Amino acid sequence: MKIAIYPGSFDPPTLGHLDIITRAAGIFDELIVACMLNKRKQTLFSSAERVEMLKLITNAIPNVKVDSSDELLADYAKKHGAAVIVKGLRAMSDFEMEFQMALLNRKMNPNLDTLFLTAGEKFHYLSSGAVKEIGALGGDISDFISPAILKKVEDVLCPV
Ligand code: PNS
Repeated sequence: MKIAIYPGSFDPPTLGHLDIITRAAGIFDELIVACMLNKRKQTLFSSAERVEMLKLITNAIPNVKVDSSDELLADYAKKHGAAVIVKGLRAMSDFEMEFQMALLNRKMNPNLDTLFLTAGEKFHYLSSGAVKEIGALGGDISDFISPAILKKVEDVLCPV
């Protein structure tokens, strides 16, 4: 059984994330979407909220499991029998950091490969950070966030 992990902050999950999840779930037997700690970022949504949103947007994809962890990704992958990390790449600007993480993860866990999927062309410009900024200033984020979680995200970003 081929198990892959799609790790991220997902703060909040966007339609760009969902596009990668859907495509990766078509490649692997099981895809674990793992809400993980990024020490470089402070999240707006709690880990429990992000997991709940990820479950809501992926509940129609049977081979997707949603989880959260504060561990090193390299250790988490070993523990869950995953040999592949899936990452979405938008522009060249993503590449440097992703390349570094892929090499470090492989150094810490030599059995772990990183597979990059190019972001869907509709989502190249999309990031959770931009969505948070647009939503917090009252902008329309309905083209960026799944309808299943739109109200929840709007309520947190721009409470009335
Ligand atoms: O969505 P993000 O914030 O770009 O995802 C980054 C994430 C969470 C995948 C990365 O920070 C990560 O792997 N965190 C887990 C802890 C870890 O293993 N850090 C070392 C990475 S080389």
